[in-house]
Amino acid sequence: MRIIDIIEKKRDSKELTAAEIEWFVQEYTAGNIPDYQAAALMMAIFIRGMNRRETVDLTLAMARSGEQLDLHDIAPFVIDKHSSGGVGDKVSLVALPLAAACGVPVGKMSGRGLGSSGGTIDKMESFRGWSPDRTLPQFRQQLAEIGLVLTGQTVDLAPADGKLYALRDVTGTVANLSLISASIMSKKLAAGADGIVLDVKAGNGAFMAAPEDARELARIMVDIGNDAGRKTIAIISDMNQPLGNAVGNALEVKEALDALRGGGPPSLWAHCEEITGRMVHLAGKTESLAAAKKMVNDARNNGRAWEKFRQLVQAQGGDVSQVDDPSLLPQAPLVEPILAPRSGVIARIDTAAIGWASVRLGAGRLVKEDEIDHAVGLILPYNVGDRLEAGQRLGEIHANNPDKLAQAREEVLAAFTWSDKPVDPLPHFYGVVE
Ligand code: URA
Repeated sequence: MRIIDIIEKKRDSKELTAAEIEWFVQEYTAGNIPDYQAAALMMAIFIRGMNRRETVDLTLAMARSGEQLDLHDIAPFVIDKHSSGGVGDKVSLVALPLAAACGVPVGKMSGRGLGSSGGTIDKMESFRGWSPDRTLPQFRQQLAEIGLVLTGQTVDLAPADGKLYALRDVTGTVANLSLISASIMSKKLAAGADGIVLDVKAGNGAFMAAPEDARELARIMVDIGNDAGRKTIAIISDMNQPLGNAVGNALEVKEALDALRGGGPPSLWAHCEEITGRMVHLAGKTESLAAAKKMVNDARNNGRAWEKFRQLVQAQGGDVSQVDDPSLLPQAPLVEPILAPRSGVIARIDTAAIGWASVRLGAGRLVKEDEIDHAVGLILPYNVGDRLEAGQRLGEIHANNPDKLAQAREEVLAAFTWSDKPVDPLPHFYGVVE
């Protein structure tokens, strides 16, 4: 086969065969196809789309591109969760230790930032020394020892996704239903989860803006998971405003630590409680979802979830003194307020613009090789429907350079739309796909 024929076929809106998809995934993973041709194929898929059969074939080929874990000798039921990507989405940092503290083993493979959305691995690397690199024996051992392991795309699980994810991030080819489904589900299948809770975002800060598109994404991922014998459900959640207050790596870690200690924004806790409750319930720990949520609250209130997070940091080489004292996490040299430009009610927040403002401050990557600055980002405590007076503190910018700070201020202010009339707050969730 020749890659150019496959690119041209998709460019001309034709359906790719399972053999062509498998060949592309294997050859690209092996380094036999250059990035520019893989990027051309990603763009052709992005524009022309894939049907359901092609999407399933791509997912399975990517899941087979490396090892496929069977963890049943360690735990009878391993749970995993994954978000389709959002701004300020630090739910994994809270949900994973919470679920593990409820006695549900969690083995997760997470990503780095993608486009305007942040990534769990980048956030965790705010801890000095913490590493997502686990060999497969280490992954298994840590799961057996502390019931919680978080790896990046470095381990030999779905390596095709590791390469394609980084390529899509910088080639404008993220927001495609088939590519997102294949990326997420290939990782989940390869990492050996028995239960998968998907947090599929809908809104102007999500890759799928319309709830119908998010629902379709959820449906296809749930079907792929269930067809592969994994109990899979998806929650459709709102992403028309950042989740919680903090956007940016270390700032989000601090907020997650607050949530694990019983503080932080109530909306963040509501989200974490729902997702983790679903994880615990799916794992069969409780008869009802309400009982699962109670267990989750207990695990937070008695400090076990926070202790589990501490173990996760320690087990993967991180500096636990930064868990004990979050003020030791990276701090930006410049911290300045953003003031409300007028009195009024927040009518709309362009959430992707907030995500990009944070990326340009240095919290994410504009090209594959960019180093990120864990300290920088934004604090935006107000939501759609909140009323502010002119000159009131709308938020804070944490920056490492005055020019970037000025640019972020402009971008953040432009992302807010104001109204003189009351505006309804946004719903948290739009539904569940089972
Ligand atoms: N999360 C992933 O892991 N992959 C995507 O493509 C989008 C979000």
